[in-house]
Amino acid sequence: MAIEFKINAPLHSEDVSEVFKSSGIKRPADDLDRIQKMIDNADVNVSAWDGEKLVGIARAITDFSFCCYLSDLAVRKEYQKSGIGTGLVQCLRKHLGEEVSLLLLSAPTAMEYYPRIGFEKIGNAFLIPRV
Ligand SMILES: CC(C)(COP(=O)(O)OP(=O)(O)OC[C@H]1O[C@@H](n2cnc3c(N)ncnc32)[C@H](O)[C@@H]1OP(=O)(O)O)[C@@H](O)C(=O)NCCC(=O)NCCS
Repeated sequence: MAIEFKINAPLHSEDVSEVFKSSGIKRPADDLDRIQKMIDNADVNVSAWDGEKLVGIARAITDFSFCCYLSDLAVRKEYQKSGIGTGLVQCLRKHLGEEVSLLLLSAPTAMEYYPRIGFEKIGNAFLIPRV
């Protein structure tokens, strides 16, 4: 399986929604207008493709200089555990450079995942949740 990674390739809400649903990540996948806004207003969307099929996405908000919030990382169920999540994060880091820190909120099921791909667990994060 040859997976191609792309930075800021055009993305359609229907395809992203399908990836979100298949991956199991909790996102407003049935609200396609909101999903399209999430894609269009992100600073970097890294996408993973099996031919014409979107199989994974990393969606990030950043100043391209100091910090980056990795909001969504999701891989289609049938493509998981084949290195695509790692590839998406590597691609994002390469694009941003080493001066930029990566920050994220983990889903409970991914708590064991992030330390495996180089993230450090921190105890000084604070959050005001959306309503
Ligand atoms: C979490 C997720 C993005 C990982 O992507 P992936 O392409 O499956 O991960 P990779 O293939 O790069 O995995 C790298 C390693 O981590 C392991 N791994 C994958 N998912 C894991 C998990 N949830 N918990 C612990 N380890 C995990 C893989 O087995 C692999 O191990 P190896 O190096 O020994 O082979 C993907 O499984 C996913 O979309 N999950 C559902 C949505 C989700 O939870 N997203 C994160 C929201 S914060």
